[in-house]
Amino acid sequence: MKTIEDLDVAGRRVFVRADLNVPLSDGRITDDGRIRAVAPTIAKLVQAGAKVIVASHLGRPKGAPDPQYSLAPVAGRLGEILGTSVAFATDTVGESAKATVAALANGEVTLLENLRFNAGETAKDDAERGAFADQLAELADLYVGDGFGAVHRKHASVFDLPARLPHAVGDLIATEVGVLKRLTEEVERPYVVVLGGSKVSDKVGVIDNLLGKADRILIGGGMAYTFLAALGHEVGISLLQKDQIPTVLEYLERGKANGVEFVLPVDVSISAFFPDTKTHAPVPDFEVVAADEIPADKEGLDIGPKTRELFAAKLADAKTVFWNGPVGVFEHPTFAEGTKAVAAALLASDAFTVVGGGDSAAAVRILGFDETKFGHISTGGGASLEYLEGKTLPGLAALEG
Ligand code: 3PG
Repeated sequence: MKTIEDLDVAGRRVFVRADLNVPLSDGRITDDGRIRAVAPTIAKLVQAGAKVIVASHLGRPKGAPDPQYSLAPVAGRLGEILGTSVAFATDTVGESAKATVAALANGEVTLLENLRFNAGETAKDDAERGAFADQLAELADLYVGDGFGAVHRKHASVFDLPARLPHAVGDLIATEVGVLKRLTEEVERPYVVVLGGSKVSDKVGVIDNLLGKADRILIGGGMAYTFLAALGHEVGISLLQKDQIPTVLEYLERGKANGVEFVLPVDVSISAFFPDTKTHAPVPDFEVVAADEIPADKEGLDIGPKTRELFAAKLADAKTVFWNGPVGVFEHPTFAEGTKAVAAALLASDAFTVVGGGDSAAAVRILGFDETKFGHISTGGGASLEYLEGKTLPGLAALEG
């Protein structure tokens, strides 16, 4: 793959496909990790005298403008991080984008409005996507792919646009891929994987692949209840994907056969009510029970103290750790203990630690951990998982040629 250094960017219009899909609450950015992660690439292009056109998606609008998904707040934050003003185009390929790009001087930056406000961005139909990519290509002379979190999407700006412009891989993607290679080739053992998050179905592919690679797989979060149910335990009103039980049982069997240890919660924090993650109102009926004693009317919302200790012990001798997905509802303090304990265990180990997935990366920062103390905090959720599943990622394949 070509890098930015292989392109002659001075005075040229450079389209940077970033992933600025950051969490917003009432129009405020609650975690700017993805903006900070791509800023060095943009700064490098600014330094080299390029006219930088940054573009991204945000959320999942339905192919038409929708103010709640506007990238306008991101333009402000990007400008603060870069220490320069970032002109914001209020459309993607329309009059505003054309005028803003035309007004760029060397070393200046503009951010286009959310690419998904145009149906062509995510279209399944090649011609429709291609037509949007043609319009985007008219705005620029060169393309830099640096939206790691979106490389698993076959979208116009990720997959079709690089085929239309001389292109290079950005520094963020280069770093992310380097880290993922360390998790797939010549892994230092023990290799311990912590998986959380709500759905087993999101993790099925990666577990399948890890059964041939990891030494231990620790399961927390909402997905743990499908594992507990597969073992015949009552899980009350906890998250449960019944249709995944046969797959989970097969994985547990394969784990035994391959010498891969699955570690499931032995106790859980429960409540009859889902906690209010905005007001953080106290949870009066919160209690800890054994993982096989969840009452029928209660929901498991975090791993319990014994499980926190167990997970820490299973992480203590690790040489490589990959963690994807919070192990509880960390957005409420009562159910943040498990996720905090996993983060602390990673920091205490001398393993190469990788935190992948928008939620776990945001959790680490929101819970106040120093992100620089981890081996790597990935900006990719689905993208990291699909890479670890061994899939070909359209956005990386497009940058190869
Ligand atoms: C992510 O948050 O994982 C990426 O930005 C991709 O977003 P998407 O799942 O909406 O395509």
